[in-house]
Amino acid sequence: MLALVTESMAGGSRSLEGIFGSAVSSHRELICNATDNGHYPETESSRPNNNGLEQRQAMSDNETNHVAGLATRWAMTTETIDTTASEIPRLRLLHGHSIPRLGLGTWPMLEDECEAAVCFAVQSGYRLIDTAFQYRNEEAVGRGIRTAGVPRSELFISSKFNKESHSIDGVQRAYDESLRKLGLDHLDMFMCHWPVPALGKYVDAWKGLVKLLEEGRVKAIGVSNFKPSHLKEIIDATGVVPDVNQIQLSPDIARTEPRAVHRLLGTVTEAWSPIGRSSGLRAHPMIIEIAQRLHKSPAQILLRWHVQQDVVPIPQASDPLWLTENLSVFDFSLSADEMAAMRQLDKGEGAARDSDLPENGH
Ligand SMILES: NC(=O)c1ccc[n+]([C@@H]2O[C@H](COP(=O)([O-])OP(=O)(O)OC[C@H]3O[C@@H](n4cnc5c(N)ncnc54)[C@H](OP(=O)(O)O)[C@@H]3O)[C@@H](O)[C@H]2O)c1
Repeated sequence: MLALVTESMAGGSRSLEGIFGSAVSSHRELICNATDNGHYPETESSRPNNNGLEQRQAMSDNETNHVAGLATRWAMTTETIDTTASEIPRLRLLHGHSIPRLGLGTWPMLEDECEAAVCFAVQSGYRLIDTAFQYRNEEAVGRGIRTAGVPRSELFISSKFNKESHSIDGVQRAYDESLRKLGLDHLDMFMCHWPVPALGKYVDAWKGLVKLLEEGRVKAIGVSNFKPSHLKEIIDATGVVPDVNQIQLSPDIARTEPRAVHRLLGTVTEAWSPIGRSSGLRAHPMIIEIAQRLHKSPAQILLRWHVQQDVVPIPQASDPLWLTENLSVFDFSLSADEMAAMRQLDKGEGAARDSDLPENGH
């Protein structure tokens, strides 16, 4: 069932806050099932009953040799993979699917490096893989998924389309093209990569995604880099709320206001550049001090900050040790004092890449 917005929130002249407030009251029972503290319950039934080891044992000799080839380059063997790390909890999405609480970002990895990282990640327990037309790696992601040998039903694969596909038909074609490159018969989520307001077509793009959802071709639909004003426009036009908005987000670019809007709408926030890419965030003295105290790495502290607030981070890593490390953030917590201290790092909304600027987006 689509998460439709009732007529009561369709009044164009009302404030964003009022409109999104209505969305909450009209949808809370239908979509959120939020607990009293606002956190989404994990859906036990949707947790992977993973047995990656059995799957790997069921691989053909050819596949095993291929994995061994990748493993050699990665100075590891398939036997060293820790399958116990594979139970990643999930968050419920508006349109009934559920999303792992942490995933793998694949940009800027290409070809063999991308394939190897995706294969290793899936075999290590990652279940959410993020790619995009723009990354030019959908084929490699698809190969990595197939080589990993984990059942498709356990995976959450998402991709995104560019501005050239911002039309109802364009989105259908972009979806077919992503499926072809990935070698899949469906995606778990398809997303509009950037709103590109200068083009003025993102509402049509959203209508294209709604069509895919209505036809049952995709399990969830999302947007990326959409500001609350963009969200308002697509919801007003269609009455359909995005399952996910993927935005630039890390403790120093904390995006407090957009996140509050997402929470009211029932939209899950995904974080790109969740560990700050090359910004130096991982070397910040406060992050290092907390990491040393908790015997964790700086990246793990940053990723824990996300998952503890029901944000889904998609860190990119090409190093097997980092891939493994980044997944291990579900066995410890940051204290209220540590979370409060990290709030001081926020540089405000102005530090985020502005998706209203013509130079940003594709
Ligand atoms: N929607 C959008 O517009 C948008 C924009 C940008 C990115 N994204 C998505 O978000 C994903 C993640 O964002 P991002 O790549 O910009 O930044 P990020 O995940 O915050 O940082 C990636 C960098 O951190 C390094 N790294 C990973 N794990 C580490 C660890 N445990 N310790 C130390 N260093 C570590 C990686 O190194 P190595 O590469 O050497 O392993 C890479 O240089 C992308 O891959 C992409 O899927 C989306």
